[in-house]
Amino acid sequence: MKKYILSIFVLALCIFSCTQADKKETRPMEWRGLMIDVSRHFYPMDVLKRQIDLMGNYGLNTLHLHLTDAAGWRLEIRKYPRLTDLGAWRTYQTWKEWWAQRPRATEETKGNEWFTPAFSDAQNGFGGFYTQDEMRELVAYAQERGITIVPEIEFPAHSEEVVAAYPWVGYNHAEMDMTKDSTYMFMADVLAEVAEIFPAPYIHVGGDESATQKGLQPEAMRRIQKIVEGLGKRMIVWDEGLTDNPADSAQIIMVWRNPDTATEAIRLGHDVIMCPSNWCYLDSYQDRPMGQPEAMGGYRPLSHIYEVPVDSALCAEATSTGRLLGIQACIFTEYVPTPEILEYQIWPRALAIAERGLGRTRSYEEFHQWAVGVADSMRKAGVNAFDLANEYGQRRESLQPVGHLARGAKVVYNNPYNSFYKAGGDSTLTDGVCGTWNNNDQCWQGFIRDIDLVLDLGQEREVSSVELSFLQILGPEIYLPAEVSVSPMPNADVTKVSETFTVLMDVTLADVPFVVQPYKVNFDVVKKSRYFHITAKRTPRRGWLFLDEVVVR
Ligand code: ACM
Repeated sequence: MKKYILSIFVLALCIFSCTQADKKETRPMEWRGLMIDVSRHFYPMDVLKRQIDLMGNYGLNTLHLHLTDAAGWRLEIRKYPRLTDLGAWRTYQTWKEWWAQRPRATEETKGNEWFTPAFSDAQNGFGGFYTQDEMRELVAYAQERGITIVPEIEFPAHSEEVVAAYPWVGYNHAEMDMTKDSTYMFMADVLAEVAEIFPAPYIHVGGDESATQKGLQPEAMRRIQKIVEGLGKRMIVWDEGLTDNPADSAQIIMVWRNPDTATEAIRLGHDVIMCPSNWCYLDSYQDRPMGQPEAMGGYRPLSHIYEVPVDSALCAEATSTGRLLGIQACIFTEYVPTPEILEYQIWPRALAIAERGLGRTRSYEEFHQWAVGVADSMRKAGVNAFDLANEYGQRRESLQPVGHLARGAKVVYNNPYNSFYKAGGDSTLTDGVCGTWNNNDQCWQGFIRDIDLVLDLGQEREVSSVELSFLQILGPEIYLPAEVSVSPMPNADVTKVSETFTVLMDVTLADVPFVVQPYKVNFDVVKKSRYFHITAKRTPRRGWLFLDEVVVR
């Protein structure tokens, strides 16, 4: 009996501690963020206020403002007025137009690479900035709604606008010089004004994608850290702070690339904020891309964002190791030229980040059903949210394997595929699996040259058509081919081809940002052949070709 009572006691203890553990794992994270890039495109105050209202309504509590980048400096700094007099304006309204012109120097700027025609001034340029008074007003507005605004000032890279305004800070046209004391004095002055405007306990100083001055960054970041800590703040850096530099463990790491970095960062004593781009970057398509606003790329519907690999068990009490501070959605805005598109890309997808950050435990189905209702009520209230109730979803052809005569056939590549986009290797084009809306899904095979291959069906077959589907995504320079040709062959010798059938590109698609386009070669009569020579030629703009399957019928 005693033994029996003891067992019941032990079992009860287990259940109790498991429940406690569950509770611990699902309590709200401290940082439930949304990052908005106001550099690539500038959005007026009322647009930010509206996002703050929505954040407050749905459980997000931190607005990270990406205030500075090559495309524009967006915060008044009184000691350095040229940052906004010059750096807040550019000669082209949209990032795309500006980026296309950016690297070119005019006759008058030749020999002075710091000044490019990309930058102009308030009279002659497009852009804008927030005065310090406006930013204080925004901070107070956010505070009233339980939201902290955290500023980001990029250092040392992503700084073309800084170097354009103050060439003496530059190492080259894009990066601040990490060896000069004057650079740190500049940063100290800027950050002192920033610290005064934002009461948040953090300042983000970038640290990402620095391409030059290798080896200098760890020390440079420590010098900036001293400045930030001297202002009573903690410093946040992007995850290059961990992967490229042995960062001081007091630096908070914002993980934007490989999510596994988080565990290592925490082990090394860092606090971590998770926003791995493959899940948390909203400059991506949330539905069937054709008909959606142009995005940087990637297909990230609500269901995918919900699956962001964040181990909430890392969200422990502060210990001798670091901890998971939270989670964040990010919208970089190269392809977000208007407030309407900004809102559309954020909502309702940011709800998935809020849900995970709040540690709620409903199933995706329950969450989705709720989010459909939220998106609907947002739209009724005039918010330009995506119409989640009418979501199309994944590319239908990718959902189940397609049967055709070349399934399992051998492909001989006369021009190799690119090793970064090899997908399943030599069997990819005949495995029956079609690509999704994502070019890096391991189903699409990428070529940075014309395609030239021979398909070997293993035995002679009667073939009436060969169909190849190509992807076009303008952002990463993936283009449809100018033409696709198929030649039945009596043997594997491509010099023995007697007839060739060609399909030309539909040129009206040339500037469509995202397309999946089939090129179907119909033979005049059924061809009896084992071998087919297949080529796809690029247009004069070259770029990438992405192909998923050679469907033979
Ligand atoms: C980043 O996307 N470069 C942080």
